[in-house]
This record gives sequence, structure tokens and C-alpha cells, in this order.
Amino acid sequence: MNVLVTGGTGFIGSHATIALLKKDHDVTIVDNLSNSKIDTLRAIENVSLKKVRFIELDLLDIKALDCLFKKNKFDIVIHFAGSKSVNESIEKPLKYYFNNVYSSIILSQIMKKYDVKKIIFSSSATVYGEPADIPLKESSKVSILNPYAASKYYIENYFREYQKQNKDWKIILLRYFNPIGAHESGLIGESPKVPHNNLMPYILKVASKESEYLQVFGDDYDTEDGTGVRDFIHIMDLAEAHVSSLDFISSNQGPDGFCNIFNIGTGKGYSVLEIIETFSKVNNIEIPYKIVDRRPGDVSQSYTDVSLAKKSLNWKAKKDLSDMCRDVWRWKSSQLKKNN
Ligand code: UFG
Repeated sequence: MNVLVTGGTGFIGSHATIALLKKDHDVTIVDNLSNSKIDTLRAIENVSLKKVRFIELDLLDIKALDCLFKKNKFDIVIHFAGSKSVNESIEKPLKYYFNNVYSSIILSQIMKKYDVKKIIFSSSATVYGEPADIPLKESSKVSILNPYAASKYYIENYFREYQKQNKDWKIILLRYFNPIGAHESGLIGESPKVPHNNLMPYILKVASKESEYLQVFGDDYDTEDGTGVRDFIHIMDLAEAHVSSLDFISSNQGPDGFCNIFNIGTGKGYSVLEIIETFSKVNNIEIPYKIVDRRPGDVSQSYTDVSLAKKSLNWKAKKDLSDMCRDVWRWKSSQLKKNN
């Protein structure tokens, strides 16, 4: 298939592109490089030994996007591009409505103009907020706690309504849980321009001695060891979910469209202390940590029921926490060597 990947130099987009190239799809990436580096493109090509077309483009640039669609006949769009920091979204909510919501609306209008009727959209488990029931099902109650989550949920709703008015559109909304890890080659991994305040990047800082210790945000949650629990998923498993979603769309050839939601996680909840322990063990590196206060806005636990994705997409995560910790450290170590 001729696939347009928006945000293809980001963490998830770049790894998904590798998975798509492996299955011989043609990929064109558009990205404004606001939080990713052009080096990532070279890394994608080095890993996959294939060429990728890249166009530096902001989705809010309607003319440029129109021109791209005029010149290319895409079969499907996989839409990753967007801003993704919860904290930043609280400080700058409008940025999230423009970069995430408005750009998705523009994208859908241009797709319609050029008769492209298939899209896979990157949503997030963040839409569930503090879970009312666990494991989370696609039908679980949504609870929007910040503008980032709101932006993802607005886009989901927009596509749902859009599909009702455009019945031949085939739409998949993927709610990702917590992707970590890196491609097993160690040639590509997460490489944002602005550092994230997520758990794994901090563990890597401590492992590489850039920070003295990790702060563990709270040990008084209602979980087994009191620390937060998340459904961490290997980035390559998450990447594969996009290939399976694409196969699902292609195998539904009939005229009737759909708009389906799938949770994408491993189905297991890992605590913060479990991650620290596994990372230390598989990489033989000590991770000193201190328990500090809870981080405002954090939920206690989040993990998914995987049955719908398994049944409909014929997809399930294959890698475990040890793989995630080993692969991410291989990537980080290669970066450290390169910079020394
Ligand atoms: N944590 C620490 N110390 C740190 C960083 C995180 O203890 O230095 C803890 C958090 O308190 C939480 C767990 O590690 O219990 C995971 O935190 P992350 O920041 O890695 O991930 P979140 O689940 O908070 O959020 C992430 C993304 C969101 C996304 C969500 C999907 O940042 O954008 O996963 O569910 F929406």
C-alpha cells in the first residue's frame, strides 16, 4: 500500500515506519521536525535498508498538504503527528487544540478532497483517566483530566462523527498504553528534541550517571507495592499493531466503512519498582531511587484488556519487560558511545 505517515520521525511513527517497510509498504513521511530530528530518517533507512520519502511539512499548512495529496495517490494515512506532553498541555492548552485537533480536521478535509478514505489515528489510553474498572476495555468509562487527553478524545469523537456522515470511510483509533524500548538493532530509539518527563527516559539518565537517582512519585497508591502501575509495551510490538490495523482495513474490502477503537497494550500492569528492578537485573546496572510525593495528575494504575485487539486485529504483544529494558539500554548505550 502507498502509506502516508504523519509524524513519522517521532518515537512511535519511526518504529511503525520500520515495521511497514518490512512488509514492503511504500512510505512517505511528513513531519514538521518540531520535536524530532532528521537523523531519525537516516536511522529508519539504515535499519530497514530501504528508502523513505520525507517531506518537512506542518499539517496546519493547508496549501502544502493539498499539494502533497495532489501529487501522490495515497491508499491510507497513519496519523501520528501531534503534541504529546501532558504538562505542556496544561500550560499551553491552545497549542494542543491547534496542533492536534485542528490539524486532524484539516487532514481529513484534504483526504476527502483527494478521495483517500482510510485512516489509522494515534489516540492514547490517557482518555481513560483514573480507571473506573480495570483492566480497561474499549467500552470503559472515559475521564478527561488534561487538555492533552481532551485533544485526543475530541479527535476520536470527530472521526466517529465524520464516519457517520461518510459511511465508506474506514477508520481505526488506537489507544496506546505506555510505549518504551527501542528497535532491537540499537540503531534507533526515542530521540526527542525536548526531553520528556516519563519514567524510562529518567531511568536512562540515572543508568548513564547523568542523574544521581530516580524520583519515584509516590509509594502509597492502592497497588501491590504502592507505586504506580502501567501497561508498558515494547515499541516494536506497538509498531506491529499498525501493520495489523492496516491488514484489518485492507481485508475489509466491502463498501461499508467503520470506525473502530482498539486498546494497544500487553495486558499486564508493571509497577514502577518492578521496572527499576528488571532494568537493573537485565542490564546489570544499579538504579538508585528515592520515594518522593505523588506527581499531581498521575493515575494509580492503568492496563488493558487485550481481547478485542487480539480477536479483531489478530495482534498481540510478544515482548516482555526484560526485552523492553534490554533494548532501550542498547539504544542509549550506542548514543552515549557516539557522543563520546
Ligand atoms: N514516574 C516516576 N518517576 C519519574 C517518572 C515517572 O515514579 O521520574 C512514575 C509515574 O508516577 C507513573 C509511572 O512512572 O506512575 C509512569 O509515568 P510516565 O510519565 O512514564 O507515564 P504516564 O502513564 O504518566 O503517561 C504516559 C504519557 C502520556 C500518555 C500515557 C498513556 O506521558 O502522554 O502514558 O497512558 F497519555
